[in-house]
Amino acid sequence: MGSAVGLGNVWRYPYITGQYGGAAFILLYIGCVLAVGVPLMIAEFLIGRKTQLNPVGAFRKLRPGSPWVVTGWLGIVSAFTILSYYAVVGGWVLHYVYLSLINSFAGKSTEQVTDIFISMNVNPDLQIFWLAIFMFVTIVIVSKGVSGGLEAGNKIMMPLLFALLIVLSIYALQTSGAASGLEFLLRPQWQKIGPTAVLEALGQALFSLSLGMGTMITYGSYLSRRSNLVSSTFFIAAGDTLVAVLAGFVVFPLAFSFGLEPGAGPGLIFRTLPIAFAQLPGGYWVALGFFILLSFAAITSSISLLEVASAYFIDEQGWSRSRAGWTLGSAIFLLGIPSAIGEQFLGVMDALSTNYLLPIGALLIAVFTGWALTHNERIDEFSANDVTAVRLAVWSFLIRFVTPVALILIFLHQVRLF
Ligand code: PHE
Repeated sequence: MGSAVGLGNVWRYPYITGQYGGAAFILLYIGCVLAVGVPLMIAEFLIGRKTQLNPVGAFRKLRPGSPWVVTGWLGIVSAFTILSYYAVVGGWVLHYVYLSLINSFAGKSTEQVTDIFISMNVNPDLQIFWLAIFMFVTIVIVSKGVSGGLEAGNKIMMPLLFALLIVLSIYALQTSGAASGLEFLLRPQWQKIGPTAVLEALGQALFSLSLGMGTMITYGSYLSRRSNLVSSTFFIAAGDTLVAVLAGFVVFPLAFSFGLEPGAGPGLIFRTLPIAFAQLPGGYWVALGFFILLSFAAITSSISLLEVASAYFIDEQGWSRSRAGWTLGSAIFLLGIPSAIGEQFLGVMDALSTNYLLPIGALLIAVFTGWALTHNERIDEFSANDVTAVRLAVWSFLIRFVTPVALILIFLHQVRLF
């Protein structure tokens, strides 16, 4: 859950939903979570727990000498690509913690709040500075292996973030634009939905659930035999989706109330939320609390990204945890600099990850689980009291047919074959 809930839910989901017109896109997104996300998460947990290894090692162990190991390598490439720009946006959030601390939003108008975002966005030095801080924190946690403490913190911070989003949505739903915001969120406009929107919904589902690159294989490798993979998956998928949907219920009513375009792009939450914070009673504390909780959610996701790459070098190359964390983390920091300098580059990295790397990884993992593994290998991780035979049959059907076919169709469109 720590890996899944992060900037994908609170930053990316609202602006993508805004760009693709609201309600219809949300339904599409939920469809992708159910048809592709849930079966795939079970598959990743299965592979990880079965092998107790990092993604490269896991495929190598299950099918020695076969090309399937490429799936693991691809995951490491995805981890680098995603974390490089994820950390830039994580840096934005840290900067907003600082801005909240020095009370920058009080009494500001919509335009002034937008200007705050723009002045950060055109300032590469500032973004590189916060990128460095964000990566530093991520590296220290991964290299010290202190995720236990973080997990404990997460159990408090995550429910708090959730509660704060509920409070904020109640507030947002009382502002003047609430009716338009609700209409946007609840009345599907199917004419805005084409194949590109389907691809975006799928990419967003994979990104938000941390799927298609072996994060859940890596985390699955730390799971004990006693944990129930299926109920954990449903819990994570439901929680992750709920946080995203709630974020939408905060952002869109506010956007309509304060005359902002729902399709305003990656700056959407940074331009809408502070306006509300400026007007809320106790807004100073709400702003500070919100950005601190969001930073926490972002860090618990970024460590899972760095962990995927590190686990390989620790397990297979014999690197120490700290060497892996520092070396890979520093390389990712350097790769992040172009995204901090130009939002266009950030957009390219984001599109590369969500439109290509994650869907390709997801397809490989689904085909591997559904077709390369034998029936027995597929089900021996589930004990009888874990899952009923019917549920197993449903999952097998989804991972063998529905998930791969959905992914392939979306790809064929992507490469313009139809
Ligand atoms: N799921 C994370 C989020 O929503 C991002 C992430 C993607 C983490 C892929 C790990 C792997 O913020």
